[in-house]
Amino acid sequence: MRVTLTSAFAKKVKAAIFSTSMTALLLAAAVSAPVFLSVSTPAFAAGSGFALETPQIDTSNQKSLQRGAKAYVNYCMGCHTADYQRYSRLAQDLGLSEEDVANNLIFTTDKAGEPTKVGSLMVNNMTEDYGRNSFGVVPPNLALTARSRGEDWIYTYLKTFYLDEERGGVGVNNLVYPGAAMPHVLWEQQGWKKPIYEGEGDAKHFVGFETVTEGTMSDQQYDALITDITAFMSYMADPIKHTRHRIGMFVMLFLLVLTVISYFLKKEYWKDVI
Ligand code: HEC
Repeated sequence: MRVTLTSAFAKKVKAAIFSTSMTALLLAAAVSAPVFLSVSTPAFAAGSGFALETPQIDTSNQKSLQRGAKAYVNYCMGCHTADYQRYSRLAQDLGLSEEDVANNLIFTTDKAGEPTKVGSLMVNNMTEDYGRNSFGVVPPNLALTARSRGEDWIYTYLKTFYLDEERGGVGVNNLVYPGAAMPHVLWEQQGWKKPIYEGEGDAKHFVGFETVTEGTMSDQQYDALITDITAFMSYMADPIKHTRHRIGMFVMLFLLVLTVISYFLKKEYWKDVI
């Protein structure tokens, strides 16, 4: 049996369906917009109020990640573990062979004293007691720090170590993380700096660094080094980011095709109604 509707009624139904679907579309757009638009607001380090710098991180740049991984195992892994990251996964994601990783990126040994296997997690041999006795705190696992602190925080933290005579022991402080227990491990590369302040009391503000001792790297080279380290830490905190984005694009494309098909299907269903 064919459904017959008066044409005025059919028009009303059509208009109602059209406006409902438009509202749904607009709602979907409104809900998803914040996901696509990354609103950039100036970031400040929690606590210290120091303005953070934003490095040019590209986690799809394998060369940058390889340099970052090399620096990380050389300069950071003596103290910090990266407990959730496996060397073998690193090889796969950074476009390296497992031999490359075993020969160039593994400097630790396992409990039996054998070189750490490529399938192992990126852990080190520092015991918690040793860490606590040496630094007052156990150096934290850095696998997820890019998520908890953010890339800008890590980059600016690595850039703002300075000489501070008021601190006993290491005599080093940090502008982003005042009172940090970590020594300036990249002092050879960056050299030693001291902050210059202007103003007094509440108006006192940081205007730049003066160089106390030159490092082996220029400022640009040092910035590039810590950008690579930050990129590597960002990769570790979210190793499947690029796979997720690829799948996301595929899903969007699928929905687009589905919309076109649904449109023609709708036309087909409604063509006999009026
Ligand atoms: C000599 C040991 C040592 C080395 C080497 C070292 N760190 Fe640290 N690091 C520490 C200690 C100790 C802390 C804890 C500081 C605190 O909480 O006061 C720390 C804290 C940090 C934090 C802050 C983590 C958080 O969420 O609070 C980051 C980021 C960090 N280190 C990055 C690095 C990077 C990158 C390297 C390599 C370039 C490195 N560290 C090398 C000892 C070390």
